[in-house]
Amino acid sequence: PVVGASLPHESAYQHVTGTALYTDDLVQRTKGVLHAYPVQVMKAHGRITAIRTAAALEVPGVVRVLTGADVPGVNDAGMKHDEPLFPDEVMFHGHAVAWVLGETLEAARLGAAAVEVDLDELPSVITLQEAIAAESFHGARPVMVTGDVEAGFADSAHVFTGEFQFSDQEHFYLETHAALAQIDEAGQVFIQSSTQHPSETQEIVAHVLGLSSHEVTVQCLRMGGGFGGKEMQPHGFAAVAALGAKLTGRPVRVRLNRTQDLTMSGKRHGFHAQWRIGFDAEGRIQALDATLTSDGGWSLDLSEPVTARALCHIDNTYWIPNARVAGRIAKTNKVSNTAFRGFGGPQGMLVIEDIMGRCAPLLGLDPTELRERNFYREGHCTPYGQKVTQPERIGAVWQQVKDSARFADRQREIAAFNAAHPHTKRGLALTGIKFGISFNLTAFNQGGALVLIYKDGSVLINHGGTEMGQGLHTKMLQVAATTLGIPLHKVRLAPTRTDKVPNTSATAASSGADLNGAAVKNACEQLRERLLQVAATQLGTNASDVRIVEGVARGLGSDKELAWDDLVRTAYFQRVQLSAAGFYRTEGLHWDAKAFQGSPFKYFSYGAAAAEVEVDGFTGAYRIRRVDIVHDVGDSLSPMIDIGQVEGGFVQGAGWLTLEDMRWDTGEGPQRGRLLTQAASTYKLPSFSEMPEEFHVTLMENATEEGAVYGSKAVGEPPLMLAFSVREALRQAAAAFGPGGVSVELASPATPEAVYWAVETARSER
Ligand code: MTE
Ligand code: HPA
Repeated sequence: PVVGASLPHESAYQHVTGTALYTDDLVQRTKGVLHAYPVQVMKAHGRITAIRTAAALEVPGVVRVLTGADVPGVNDAGMKHDEPLFPDEVMFHGHAVAWVLGETLEAARLGAAAVEVDLDELPSVITLQEAIAAESFHGARPVMVTGDVEAGFADSAHVFTGEFQFSDQEHFYLETHAALAQIDEAGQVFIQSSTQHPSETQEIVAHVLGLSSHEVTVQCLRMGGGFGGKEMQPHGFAAVAALGAKLTGRPVRVRLNRTQDLTMSGKRHGFHAQWRIGFDAEGRIQALDATLTSDGGWSLDLSEPVTARALCHIDNTYWIPNARVAGRIAKTNKVSNTAFRGFGGPQGMLVIEDIMGRCAPLLGLDPTELRERNFYREGHCTPYGQKVTQPERIGAVWQQVKDSARFADRQREIAAFNAAHPHTKRGLALTGIKFGISFNLTAFNQGGALVLIYKDGSVLINHGGTEMGQGLHTKMLQVAATTLGIPLHKVRLAPTRTDKVPNTSATAASSGADLNGAAVKNACEQLRERLLQVAATQLGTNASDVRIVEGVARGLGSDKELAWDDLVRTAYFQRVQLSAAGFYRTEGLHWDAKAFQGSPFKYFSYGAAAAEVEVDGFTGAYRIRRVDIVHDVGDSLSPMIDIGQVEGGFVQGAGWLTLEDMRWDTGEGPQRGRLLTQAASTYKLPSFSEMPEEFHVTLMENATEEGAVYGSKAVGEPPLMLAFSVREALRQAAAAFGPGGVSVELASPATPEAVYWAVETARSER
């Protein structure tokens, strides 16, 4: 069987030899391309009073300057209609207000520098504190309520309150935003875009140009990483390229350099949380009252569903019988924050894991024990009213990690090590995850595919999902080969295009394989049914008795055989349709966004991680000595791909929580609102030197998920949250510098500097 086999990524060879084609590689293969360069205004907020382009047009090689006056359709690039493509008001430091087209990139750059913009500066809101103080909010303000919070607090033996603000995160995909637009002889637009959401890119381009969707085709070859950053943010860049192409009749390319990408595109939302929690005498949560404020940036983008997902994940693996959790979105003069692996889930879960880590010492409990006592059990519901399915898996992965990591033994070894080393301390922490799979918005939970069988027996599949390195296409090839009963080499995958499968959802919410896999399977099943009829006549048996295995059709109990290629050719001559459109929609979902109640998720993914760290008491520098993970992906479609996703997700999470320190100029000077960390030189990403010295990843066995494609579960986002174990291990190591039982507050990201201050605070308690 091809499904379930450990295969390399279908493009692994091209990736490592540099032959894989990305959007911007197409520029060299396209004649007469114009290059677009943004005119960025370096002020946080202000009203534009004039844009003068004459000097730019004098620059040799400048062909045209695009401004709002050029837009034939709607001057808006956002799904919430709050994102003018050419704004009248500069909303953040680095906002692009016009674009210059040049024969070369250099000409366009010089042209952009020559454009003059007059601005009436306005007061700006940069930090979350400023937004909260000024009540600068936008969008929905959901409130999630379950049980009776005040009664829960009245029944609590211990009540604690706290505040927690944690950082945003840059996607830092290797390939920056890119689009290449062309116009055909009928004026139709073809856009190659590095986008996770080709259908929405198509929709926005059509709006901006005043066209219908059938006049615009978007293709995505593959992305050099998306991580959510290309779910909604590519649309405006594609629209600029398309507008330029429409106005000049020439191909137009937009590709941001790294600093432009960093200063113009949205990031993971930083959050502020204010909380009050009540525990009974045994440490069981009785009540939680919290307000989460996300930093939405200047426009809404995906901030509403991100904030909703944060609320839906504040429970993580814990049963909270009485809760009131409010969410709100700060409107700040910064880039518009957007989807990022986990989509608010990590932020919600970080709040409760931080609470657990801080409160365990105050309750006199080991943090592992406190976490276990609060796990969901059979029959429990989430605060938004969904029954928790498979709650036993929370404990199962937890126990498996405890065993394989020799958790109890190592706790004792670490206690002995810490007693013997005054200036170096180790910490070992175990944390778990539960993550809901499906888009909260029910309508998005659909997928489509188009499968073509050619006369020679070769198969071409199209589906609505995009490839960003996560291995979706590899899995889709496996699903098609298995469903049709043919070897993998018979199947090829075409680039994602909106003229093959319409109205697709973003490849997001980890649902790519679930939705598109089921649609590919559905299309292949239709084709298989037709071919079985043909084979049955040839083999002299009933269709229900025919099996196609590894490219050979056989009747049960008969030794006659029919090779796949012959079967297909016979079907063609019998005029049997050899193409099929597949479709899938996830059943059983419902969500009432107003009441904030329902069952928005098809199932939950589970995992657990144990991390051991060592902290230097003089500097706060640390290293990750060992990580053990057990993660639930159902029956893996492709184990090597899934293990890669778990490792990559974990490391990206560890980057967010411990290294990546995004800084903005929050002072009142002329650079107010400027992103200070504009390059890899100042924004520290995880690299080889930060990898765990020992790293063990195991997929849960015998984990079939009923009703999902070949029993598999989603994998893309959940493992990111396994990195909470690193943060909690750092907290415990810092605490070990103090007297026993000290509750340590740790900043996020827990950079060496932050860890140093946590160590200092712990020491001062002695
Ligand atoms: N893996 C790689 N290599 N590159 C990526 O950009 N994006 C992640 C995850 N894994 C990403 C990745 C995100 S944010 C999501 S939602 C899923 O992949 C999307 O793909 P899937 O739904 O096919 O799992
Ligand atoms: N992740 C999770 N949920 C979502 C996403 C995503 O990227 N997009 C919309 N809902």
